[in-house]
Amino acid sequence: MVMPKSEKAFLRNGEQGIYAHVVGWGMAVPDTVMTNHDMEAIVETSDEWIRTRTGIAERRIASERDSTASLGLRAAQRALDVADVLPTEIDLIIVATSTPENIFPSTASLIQHRLGAVKAGAFDLSAACSGFVYGVEMATQAIRSGSIATAMVIGAETMSRVLDWQDRSTCILFGDGAGAVVLQASNAPGGVLSAVLRSDGSGADMLSIPTVGSEDLSNSYFLASEHRMFKMYMNGGEVFKFAARVVGESILEALEKADLTLDDVSLIVPHQANMRIIQSAARALKLDVSRFVSNLDRYGNTSAASIPIALCEAIEQGRVKENDNLVFVGFGGGLTWAAMVLQWGIPQGLEGYSGSRIKRQRRRAMYTLAHWRTRLLRLSRVINQFANRLLGRDEHPEE
Ligand code: UT7
Repeated sequence: MVMPKSEKAFLRNGEQGIYAHVVGWGMAVPDTVMTNHDMEAIVETSDEWIRTRTGIAERRIASERDSTASLGLRAAQRALDVADVLPTEIDLIIVATSTPENIFPSTASLIQHRLGAVKAGAFDLSAACSGFVYGVEMATQAIRSGSIATAMVIGAETMSRVLDWQDRSTCILFGDGAGAVVLQASNAPGGVLSAVLRSDGSGADMLSIPTVGSEDLSNSYFLASEHRMFKMYMNGGEVFKFAARVVGESILEALEKADLTLDDVSLIVPHQANMRIIQSAARALKLDVSRFVSNLDRYGNTSAASIPIALCEAIEQGRVKENDNLVFVGFGGGLTWAAMVLQWGIPQGLEGYSGSRIKRQRRRAMYTLAHWRTRLLRLSRVINQFANRLLGRDEHPEE
């Protein structure tokens, strides 16, 4: 196997390489389906306009019981089942999201405790629709440095909660869902081969959800547009032009870094924003559009969740095979964009696929234990505070 440039840079003084392989994957979407016809009852639009301008036919909408963490948790549990990894083996959890449960605590921390991943660090990553690729690259670098062995990267969104349901140019585009992958260290070459992460904050006003800590909306880069606190704003036309340019460019850049060409690529898993963006990238790269995964007809744009959801479906459909070179490419708010090349395949020694029954039962037991552990810890804190007050003890004694 020819060693990509990134490998040469990584392997110094004859060191044995550590590679980051995807060994598990999972997705979760809400049950409620909203069709384009349902949209016609909300804004002035038509099934025909939405289909021809975007490729979307329907999307999933979170119910009151769903949340970014609950969708992310379900995707994560499925990914652990495929990887046959225990929650206690996870060292790091990254949740890429634009719709976190809170500013803090992070959605990643909520998922960490519900999984019972007691040895994991956890944080949210904000890079809009590019967030999943950013997250996989961060986890990869942590694995390759030898600092951790197992990471969970989740893209999870409840976009329906930040949409302006009166703005027909944005509310018809987005949907809710989550996808997750487990990455593990191995000395077998392969896995993530290269990545390109980029940002251009001059385009911040093109796509945004202003929140607490934001500048005065009437006196900032938001001037002259209709940005509203906690609501998504998008200049669709400008974002479209930006996306059509960066998708092709970043794919070629990531391939060059991995010493590969388009001929080596089996499948491209792009962010699912608009079928016309995917077609335009295919034309620019002179590739048949069938080389791109597309499922936006059924889910719309699920932001950071769209690439892992599309990946899971491509695997399920048998479109991803051992040793295939895959490309992930994302773009969105920031503006940000990111592309990544992976060589697919689970090396021997990393379990994957098999899903032993005993480990599966241990995972279920750990989820139940995590649930009760949290309740007990919270209860013990309340009892402690109560007892301290009753006994007149100082809760914060000076050192
Ligand atoms: O994940 C983040 C990245 N996001 C994206 O990549 C989204 C990129 N942008 C897009 O996908 C497209 O720009 C849109 C789908 C948002 C819009 O498509 P477009 O072909 O660029 O339409 P447009 O904005 O140029 O609007 C054309 C017409 C306008 O009417 P007039 O001014 O020509 O009379 C719009 O008001 O279509 C109208 N329009 C609609 N008509 C029916 C806009 N939205 C709708 C709608 N139904 N939902």
